[in-house]
Amino acid sequence: MPTPTSTAKLSFNDKTYDLPMMSPTIGPDVIDIRKLYVDADVFTFDPGFTSTAACESAITFIDGDKGELLHRGYPIEQLAAKSSYLEVCYLLLYGELPTADQLVDFTERVRRHTMVHEQMHYFFRGFRRDSHPMATMVGVVGAMSAFYHDSLDINDPWQREVAAIRMIAKLPTIAAMAYKYSVGQPFVYPKNALDYAGNFLHMCFAVPAEDFVVNPVLAKALDRIMMLHADHEQNASTSTVRLAGSSGANPFACIAAGIACLWGPAHGGANQACLEMLREIGTVDRIPEYIAKAKDKNSGFRLMGFGHRVYKNFDPRATVLKESADEVLEMLGIRDNPTLQVAKELERIALQDDYFISKKLYPNVDFYSGIILDAMGFPTSMFTPIFAIARTVGWISQWKEMIAEQNQKIGRPRQLYVGAPKRNYVDITKR
Ligand code: CMC
Repeated sequence: MPTPTSTAKLSFNDKTYDLPMMSPTIGPDVIDIRKLYVDADVFTFDPGFTSTAACESAITFIDGDKGELLHRGYPIEQLAAKSSYLEVCYLLLYGELPTADQLVDFTERVRRHTMVHEQMHYFFRGFRRDSHPMATMVGVVGAMSAFYHDSLDINDPWQREVAAIRMIAKLPTIAAMAYKYSVGQPFVYPKNALDYAGNFLHMCFAVPAEDFVVNPVLAKALDRIMMLHADHEQNASTSTVRLAGSSGANPFACIAAGIACLWGPAHGGANQACLEMLREIGTVDRIPEYIAKAKDKNSGFRLMGFGHRVYKNFDPRATVLKESADEVLEMLGIRDNPTLQVAKELERIALQDDYFISKKLYPNVDFYSGIILDAMGFPTSMFTPIFAIARTVGWISQWKEMIAEQNQKIGRPRQLYVGAPKRNYVDITKR
């Protein structure tokens, strides 16, 4: 915990309270209000946590105005250009870039955990075939705590480490199984000679009846998508994982909670919602109708893939993915795809429109990731599971950081109560 650097003063009801202020390595100063309730008998009100630092963290930093995203201090653009998903996993988990030997060792540890317990196959078969893969994943990842009893003790650093490696290694297998189950094809076992992204493509698209060769360009693009989704500070799903973990829940249960939160269309579910919206728009001439709907508060409609709570200038992940989208579509020879045309035109119009400019609404990472994943042959229902695979390392890194913290407490927000005041029970015959 940083030592206080100055003091903020809060005055009300003729009293002044001194509140310690702390300075982060980078970013705005933080007012420490932990003693405010005890000293002044008031709560602070911040639904949506727009002004609240809920924890101390050394993993990821975002400057929303500059459009800057740093993992352990390294800019995402540099990582995307020079690193790989597993190297970024190592960085997030352990705090430093690995040496060549450390990376080999880490990759090997992940590889050795890619298979899931054989009994889990039967667990999958209990789901309806038309279940959304995210629904299956929430269930199966939660159920890992019923299969891996030797990595449930959160107080044992080694068990925490094993749980972390298991989830990073097995999430692609579980997501691919959820997909295979939904399309009625046999499960494809992991092939550990392949790299992380290539193995996932293999488990999703190979069938036992034919040989399958992983396209290296697609594997690289998928690796990059995963890298760009690996962690994102205290977003909704990460905060969910931290809150679940603060009660002492086991790591598999916490990550299942994160997956459930990620599924929402305002968060990770936006990649699926965005591509479905582009398809619904269908042709360029219908864009103005949808722009008008997005501006109309009463319509309840938002342009999916636009806007971000923190980025108010541009989303640096979107900038990198836009390039990847061009590369992948070029490689696959996709130029006249109507969805792509709608996406390009929508982006062009929205970026010039006063409504979007004044509210600082820019295309976010989900706008471009869906276009790439669609071109790779993934159905829209697999977009959010791929996000979940990638974000697992972020959730686990944040969970491990929280558990290791000495003054860790159960997360317990308070409220501004607006319900009925105290009243007496009325007998049912008198109501
Ligand atoms: N289309 C139209 N209007 C929008 C949009 C949008 N996509 N996003 C925000 N607005 C408007 C909103 O109506 C509000 O207007 P006003 O000030 O007049 O009330 C203003 O912009 C601010 O919106 P907000 O809801 O207060 O902003 P927020 O920070 O709470 O929400 C967001 C951020 C990402 C949930 C929101 O922009 C959104 O719903 N976007 C669409 C879903 C999406 O693409 N989500 C993916 C986010 S990136 C990946 C991830 O984090 O998982």
